[in-house]
Amino acid sequence: MSDKHSHPLNVNGEPRAFFGRRSGKRLHKGQDRLYAELLPALEIKLPEATLDPAMLFAGKSRRAIEVGYGGGEHLSRVASENPDTGFIGCEVFSGGIAKLLEAIDERELGNVRLFTDDALKLLVKLPPASLDAAFLLYPDPWPKSRHHKRRFISPTTLAELARVLKPGAVFRFATDIEDYANWTLAHILREPTFRFLTPEPGSWHVPYPGWQPTRYEQKARREGRMISFYFEFQRV
Ligand SMILES: C[S@@+](CC[C@H](N)C(=O)[O-])C[C@H]1O[C@@H](n2cnc3c(N)ncnc32)[C@H](O)[C@@H]1O
Repeated sequence: MSDKHSHPLNVNGEPRAFFGRRSGKRLHKGQDRLYAELLPALEIKLPEATLDPAMLFAGKSRRAIEVGYGGGEHLSRVASENPDTGFIGCEVFSGGIAKLLEAIDERELGNVRLFTDDALKLLVKLPPASLDAAFLLYPDPWPKSRHHKRRFISPTTLAELARVLKPGAVFRFATDIEDYANWTLAHILREPTFRFLTPEPGSWHVPYPGWQPTRYEQKARREGRMISFYFEFQRV
């Protein structure tokens, strides 16, 4: 089920569409309640002008973003492990948003804010050098060549990530799809503002320290895709 939403942004002067699933199974009652009561307190509404992430997280010394957090397994874990960092989670799928709301509620996380639309819409509102880290873990692979342009990694999104990350900030990208790993390297090596921190082929497959498989990674393993690429790039 694919849902096309027009996008106000321009990629080299062309409109960019967003393709993805926004809703699936009905939410259960507890999730409905969290959607009605907790989400409004955490949801980021984009201002006309700039969105300063420092204003979202009073008293936090660092700020990070996760794009497409799915069920939020990684985001809720890193948020509870790093209480001094404010995390912006971007996800459009209601089932995933509901799962993360449950984790935020259960663990009483006070350092997560949510954006429920295309992450690129938020990235373009952020000031330069305003984030300390970015995560893109198992983005939708869009395996068919004619769909490659729907992949989240593109010259536009990389230029935006480069703009909003502080010098020294780390961008982590993981995938189980070799073609998407190649795609990302090919794009990022053209972006001189990123340094590849895991250039030796052997290191690509070593999970990040403290890593726990996300829901999508578990699904990949069940389906026989046993190897992942765990890339790390640094904003120079
Ligand atoms: C393959 S899933 C992986 C989810 C999770 N990171 C994991 O590893 O389990 C990709 C997720 O990215 C979300 N997504 C895709 N494009 C997005 C965008 N432009 N902004 C925000 N979320 C997006 C999708 O809704 C989907 O839940």
